[in-house]
Amino acid sequence: MNAAEPIPVEFHHPVRNLSDRVAFGTTRFLRFFADSLFAKRYGNRAIVLETVAAVPGMVGGALLHLRCLRWMRDDEGWIRTLLDEADNERMHLMTFMEIARPSWFERMMVLVAQAMFCTFYFFLYLVSTRTAHRLVGYFEEEAVVSYTRYLEEIDAGRIENVPAPQIAIGYWALPQDARLREVVIAVRQDEAGHRDVNHAIANQPSSTRPARMHAAEGTGHATYADKARQS
Ligand SMILES: [Fe+2]
Ligand SMILES: [Fe+2]
Repeated sequence: MNAAEPIPVEFHHPVRNLSDRVAFGTTRFLRFFADSLFAKRYGNRAIVLETVAAVPGMVGGALLHLRCLRWMRDDEGWIRTLLDEADNERMHLMTFMEIARPSWFERMMVLVAQAMFCTFYFFLYLVSTRTAHRLVGYFEEEAVVSYTRYLEEIDAGRIENVPAPQIAIGYWALPQDARLREVVIAVRQDEAGHRDVNHAIANQPSSTRPARMHAAEGTGHATYADKARQS
């Protein structure tokens, strides 16, 4: 793809090596579980999966911080980018908490999933930073697909296009009369940004990771609330 071309909302990074295969296989496996558990209950699906999605940025940011301390190198702004991603995912969670209500079973699932995924991602990041970021890149591809399906359900009238919660209107600088549809589009745009950043980091040669991630700039990752407010 030409660097000057915008990356489409629905994009798939081709599986090219063992690291990609591990990341993609793990993603497909977890997607199967999500599909089985939630089917088309997209509000509840979003709540549970956003609690997981907010983990990698925080774990990666903390480990990158420690790595930069050990190697006495500048992070070139990447710690902030990863922490912003975690913060952005938490805002997705807060937004969907205004739209759906998790059951007690789902709340228990979040506790178990956080303990397991946090531990898994921590060790994966230590063993292979590339695979960890590729995994998030593939997770985010699936998130984009899920939010596209959510939009289709809203457009078909099977999910009510309720008024946007105030927290979302403030965060994404949406019009006061915004509806759920606009919120889902804003969230999907964020997920596409996370996807592009994480794939771009995973694409870097290992000898230059983490301190030289310039090439990941310009991937459109500044799509969160700040950008919404600036525009
Ligand atoms: Fe999210
Ligand atoms: Fe995301």
